[in-house]
Amino acid sequence: MCSVVNFNINGYHYKLPVIYGTFYEKAINISQLRENTGLITFDPGFKNTGITKSSISFIDGEKGELLYRGYPIEQIINKCSFIETSYLILNGELPNTAQLKSFSEKIKTFNHLHKEINKIFDHIPNFYHPMGILSSLTYILDTFINCLQEEDMYLHLLAKLPILAALTYRKKVGLPPPHINPNLDYTSNLLEMFFSIPNKSYEQNPIITDALNKILILHADHEQNCSTTTVRLLGSADTGLFSSISAGMSALWGRLHGGANQAVIEMLEDILQSGGNIKKWIEKAKNKKDPFRLMGFGHRIYKNFDPRAKIAKKVAENIIQQLGISDPILELAKNLEENALQDPYFVEKKLYPNIDFYSGIIYQAIGIPKYMFTVMFALGRLPGWMAHWKEMKYNKDPIGRPRQIYIGYKKRNIQK
Ligand code: CMC
Repeated sequence: MCSVVNFNINGYHYKLPVIYGTFYEKAINISQLRENTGLITFDPGFKNTGITKSSISFIDGEKGELLYRGYPIEQIINKCSFIETSYLILNGELPNTAQLKSFSEKIKTFNHLHKEINKIFDHIPNFYHPMGILSSLTYILDTFINCLQEEDMYLHLLAKLPILAALTYRKKVGLPPPHINPNLDYTSNLLEMFFSIPNKSYEQNPIITDALNKILILHADHEQNCSTTTVRLLGSADTGLFSSISAGMSALWGRLHGGANQAVIEMLEDILQSGGNIKKWIEKAKNKKDPFRLMGFGHRIYKNFDPRAKIAKKVAENIIQQLGISDPILELAKNLEENALQDPYFVEKKLYPNIDFYSGIIYQAIGIPKYMFTVMFALGRLPGWMAHWKEMKYNKDPIGRPRQIYIGYKKRNIQK
């Protein structure tokens, strides 16, 4: 294994150290590059730039593998609940029975909102997108929470974000504020908060709870994606946790990132409504003059199947079959996937379905409308965002401040 790379610039010889990760992934450490050579690197979209050392999750994009704290996602999905996964991601190890009990109980003690938040919420127009509402209220929460211990901030967010999500959904459909049931587990309570109606609890169904648990777990962390890096960048400026998470939500909202789940269902509905001609839509996605892309396809890191998409497809098939739903959208999605995966354009560019391709179908089967999909993604991603913020503080990462290549005017004088 080489420990340095050698290179020459204008007749001068330089050495740069190489650093290795757990799986021997390699990076040239360029932190002294400018000081020694006057050069910076140019990497729009950070396609080849590692911004930190992290021990939270690992992706092998070529093999299509994802690990949370070393555990394969396929094992976590079958053996853990979302709340255990959150503990794992935040603390580095799976909880034992006592730790899990205390973690869950403590979250329940924070299961309420300050009455001022409810007042603010009442003034938010109902036509606002739920992601905008969630992001703004998460930022505002900071004002009302005084945590003596840092660990409590994480628990407050785990407790309060589902309430904000449920409030938003219920206002949209004309229901009063949610009923919180502290006797239920995290995911069942989430369903109760969303779907109970006045004087009638939500009738829990293990098929639905299991699907919701799984889809939240699949979203729990994904190393340096756009929203997580946003959270780390804000934290690096010494911005507080709530504001950093709120900014992460805004980043997630974009259609190329978490907003893709809503965009996928809208695309599938469009395809269905326009006659279901899959080939025509694939050709549209390939046409460089057409801005249309196949939503839910492609990924910066995965050049093989996204392991989350494989699991999400199974979860979608199971829930639809077990609930006896007839969903033409699932059949269409499977057809579209099959056709795209045989098309040379998608094969050559290694474009596979990503997590967002099937997640919307699961949410719809649960009863969650499409304007809430990205909010659900945010609830799932919350432990990952918090763990990265925590790790960034612990590592004492320096403030994130990239450079640029200036291509504007040369220095000039105002003519007047
Ligand atoms: N449909 C058609 N062509 C595509 C697609 C697509 N979905 N995705 C990528 N391509 C093409 C792209 O046009 C480019 O072609 P060329 O090399 O000829 O210019 C090539 O594939 C590489 O794409 P890229 O945009 O340079 O790749 P990227 O790593 O910058 O972007 C991506 C990754 C996910 C933004 C992109 O694949 C995309 O826009 N996908 C659709 C939106 C989507 O599903 N987003 C959810 C991502 S997973 C959830 C999450 O974590 O955010």
